[in-house]
Amino acid sequence: MDLKNQLNEIERKAEELFEKIDNLDSLEALRIEFLGKKGRITEVLKEMAKLPAEEKPLIGQAANNLKNRINNMLAEKKAELEKVLADQRLKEETIDVSLPGKKIQIGHKHPLTLVTDQIKDIFIGLGFTIAEGPEIENEYNNFEALNVPKYHPARDLQDTFYIDDDYLLRTHTSPVQIRTMAVEKPPIWIIAPGRVYRSDDLDASHSPVFHQVEGLVIDKGISFADLKGTIHSFVTAVFGENTKTRFRPSYFPFTEPSAEVDISCVICEGEGCRLCSSTGWLEVMGSGMVHPNVLEMAGIDPREYSGFAFGMGIDRITMLKYGIDDIRLLFTNDKRFLQQF
Ligand code: PHE
Repeated sequence: MDLKNQLNEIERKAEELFEKIDNLDSLEALRIEFLGKKGRITEVLKEMAKLPAEEKPLIGQAANNLKNRINNMLAEKKAELEKVLADQRLKEETIDVSLPGKKIQIGHKHPLTLVTDQIKDIFIGLGFTIAEGPEIENEYNNFEALNVPKYHPARDLQDTFYIDDDYLLRTHTSPVQIRTMAVEKPPIWIIAPGRVYRSDDLDASHSPVFHQVEGLVIDKGISFADLKGTIHSFVTAVFGENTKTRFRPSYFPFTEPSAEVDISCVICEGEGCRLCSSTGWLEVMGSGMVHPNVLEMAGIDPREYSGFAFGMGIDRITMLKYGIDDIRLLFTNDKRFLQQF
């Protein structure tokens, strides 16, 4: 076969093979087969050396044309294959905007936090500011300075978690009264929310850790009437305008006189039911006029200043407000319970 025919045969073969190519790897193999150093066209060019001088340009020209043609076919096929690949990728990576999204669960405040926030708001509205103290407290602030002498039953190991002879987990928020009076001069109007600890067994109404809000007011001419007015405003703000407040004589070492505060039952409104043990009343806090001994120990002259204090359980207020019958629900963090708030 002469070289011209060989070139025609190569062209025919190339057209046939290119037609069938369906991926970039086989395309590269084909390029090497036709245009490579040992490829079909190179073979023809080698043969050209044997030709008479006048035929060389003709065959050379034809070989070059074929080379160009094959290069064009390569480029075309390559573009075609790359477009198929790109289309395929686009299809796979398309986002289906009609698919339902994954629902993100949004957290929210714990019922105790909701109620604490509400209590703070109410007292801030009455002119109080917020104070804080540590949960690990010294024996002096928790007892001594509150007029609870050594060997007083309230200091009993049964009630108090002692850390050592001097330190304990505070059993109430009242030590914040002492801390505040140590750094502030009257007039003092503060509330102090926080965690407190008592070595009680856990049951539906007791927990060894619970929460209180302390209140302390010290100013000139503060009387029991100021205590009653403040507490009644607070109670109606939390439990509703028609809620009644009752002050019942009681005893705390750090107040004199002292009173327990009852509110009319949130369920039966005074008729008598299971929640209020048929009394119509619910006990919600302890209160009283700050004992002169406490003022004196804090360096405040009881002949010049007087004050009142109160302390309530936030857990109890939360349970009454939302009708929760087991304090443990506030600490076990069961999402089925928490999601209801
Ligand atoms: N600290 C008392 C208690 O934990 C409550 C209280 C506070 C009573 C302030 C009177 C005045 O029971």
